Amino acid sequence: MALQRTFSIIKPDATERNLTGAVNAKIEEAGLRIVAQKRIQMTRGQAETFYAVHKERPFFGELVDFMISAPVVVQVLEGEDAIAKYRDVMGATNPEQAAEGTIRKAFAKSIGENSVHGSDAPETAAIEIAQFFSGNEIVG
Ligand code: CMP
Repeated sequence: MALQRTFSIIKPDATERNLTGAVNAKIEEAGLRIVAQKRIQMTRGQAETFYAVHKERPFFGELVDFMISAPVVVQVLEGEDAIAKYRDVMGATNPEQAAEGTIRKAFAKSIGENSVHGSDAPETAAIEIAQFFSGNEIVG
């Protein structure tokens, strides 16, 4: 497997509890490299665009409101098989189903307030990275 990049968000429930460093430690312990990172206040428009695939879901409004409720940290992670590796490190979407040692098991509050997002495929990773970073902001 070649070097791959994935997109990550440290969500408002984690930034509010000052867990950015704790999440980053788990990312780095897993062998992933943070090659871009910035703390932003997401706008409603950015959140709606980012989660457009979920716009028909009953939780869409709640999800957008949550993502703009406090700052987030957007990141690009690089490593061997980074997309699958980061999904393993995050754990299941619902923290009640997340494995021991994962970010969501350790920190997530609920299925909605679940501390982190990670891309699910190479195509979505490319789209998500491009929404928040220009090429010269990513330094591998
Ligand atoms: P994420 O990986 O960011 O992608 C979509 C998000 O929708 C997901 O994490 C959850 O935070 C959120 N989500 C999924 N299911 C629910 C739900 N039943 N209620 C609220 N939010 C949800």
